[in-house]
Amino acid sequence: MSDPDYKLLESQLKALVGDETDALANASNFIGLMFDALEDVNWLGIYVLRGDELVLGPYQGKTACVRIALGKGVCGTAAATLQTQRVPDVHEFPGHIACDVASRSEIVVPLIINDELIGVLDIDSPSLDRFSAADQDGIESLCRAYCEIQSRSATFI
Ligand code: SME
Repeated sequence: MSDPDYKLLESQLKALVGDETDALANASNFIGLMFDALEDVNWLGIYVLRGDELVLGPYQGKTACVRIALGKGVCGTAAATLQTQRVPDVHEFPGHIACDVASRSEIVVPLIINDELIGVLDIDSPSLDRFSAADQDGIESLCRAYCEIQSRSATFI
């Protein structure tokens, strides 16, 4: 499996978005771009913070659970701790929420704008231990670029 060039992906994201400020359109293209670029991934999408829970946003993959409470599952843990959760084996993660039974490893990155959590990016793989520390660095950097883009919109997603 070849690692994606995350720096190249970042410039592709900026080029794709251009000066568009519609948050939903930009979120959708961010997800589409990443899903195309990452190999061995069966689900990739955003959960948006709505009040005190996470609500399903744009994604690619099988249909998924709509609402996740803060602190629950991998997504809720990332949101509650504001820390990326890189899980080599989801079966070993207490409280993991299985949306697609094919998922075996997962990474969830908090999305933060102006020190405020706006949601999380969730990526699932059917392979054990799919996400390396280098993947984490690259995906976190892409998420920072995404948040920078979304900070231009009146409504974040
Ligand atoms: N596995 C996640 C739930 C979302 S799905 O994977 C799409 C979790 O435990 O939070």
